[in-house]
Amino acid sequence: MKKLLALVLVVCMVFAFGATTAFADGDNLVGVAMPTKDLQRWNQDGEYMKEKLEAAGYEVDLQFGANDIATQVSQIENMIANGCKVLVIASIDGDSLGTVLAQAKEAGIPVIAYDRLIMNSDAVSYYATFDNWLVGVTQGKFIEDALDLKNAEGPFNMEFITGDPGDNNINFFFDGAMSILQPYLDSGKVVCPSGQTEKAVVATANWATDAAQARFETILAANYSDGTKLDAVLASNDSTALGVENALAASYTGDYPVITGQDCDIAIMPNLIAGKQAMSVFKDTRTLAAKVVEMVDALMKGAEPPVNDTETYDNDSSEDGVNIIPSFLCEPVACTADNYKEVVIDSGYYTEDQLA
Ligand code: BGC
Repeated sequence: MKKLLALVLVVCMVFAFGATTAFADGDNLVGVAMPTKDLQRWNQDGEYMKEKLEAAGYEVDLQFGANDIATQVSQIENMIANGCKVLVIASIDGDSLGTVLAQAKEAGIPVIAYDRLIMNSDAVSYYATFDNWLVGVTQGKFIEDALDLKNAEGPFNMEFITGDPGDNNINFFFDGAMSILQPYLDSGKVVCPSGQTEKAVVATANWATDAAQARFETILAANYSDGTKLDAVLASNDSTALGVENALAASYTGDYPVITGQDCDIAIMPNLIAGKQAMSVFKDTRTLAAKVVEMVDALMKGAEPPVNDTETYDNDSSEDGVNIIPSFLCEPVACTADNYKEVVIDSGYYTEDQLA
């Protein structure tokens, strides 16, 4: 019995010791909080950063928040408690981290918002992302060119879908695309048979494919089941585009509309190659992750992190408040069936086999 108790005690000590020393060298610790494992890109972003930061000699606490705000908050609290020196956060909901980030600020920990801007917090030091406005403009211009909106008579039927309302990026993706497409809606050259054109109405919680599919099944049944042609769908990313494509596959018999997307997710690549999704916007997560590693390294060494934009990203959404976050914007690239080999295979992002 005594032996058993001693064993239990040793096991408990190992656990306790292990728990407090999991990150023995807090001086070197970087906390990386990603939103979810559900989508390919966040797994890649997280793993690239971990690999590169470790290669540069840092310890990394990499966590994925399961698209649950409370989980992400507690993961960040743990990172702060473990003594991390820099936080890199891709938020689930940009507006829900104010309280935990106040603790980071109190502890003198700089925060880099990763891909998605964290809103209404004065604890955000830097932002690294792709040029989100350009992503939207690229999608809008793609549809404009594909339908030859400048010259054709129309009218063309178009539907719209964007992502999570808590993700500040949708304001750039959707508004950027609409800066190109709205004039055509206004003139009547483009019409939206479902009448759903407002960002809040076309938003998709958690960017979920299922929800996108369900919404489009309803739209197709109500507006297109009589053979009405759907000419284009502005979809802000690939997970929502895939929902649209699934809905079309189930009920739509006409030619596929021009569908946009973003990320070059492996899940949509067969559709892109087959011409069912006309384009995606490629954002090489390796580029963004590498840039953030440079930023972290600079902060760790007391140097200035690289930035290339000090005007665009205001994280204060109050009417008269302004808090511009110094940012680094990477460049997105349009990817289609015509150039995908060059864009995603020659760059080493995917192998030919993965897409076969
Ligand atoms: C990212 C997109 C991604 C979406 C869904 C956005 O914040 O910028 O690349 O498709 O989140 O995860």
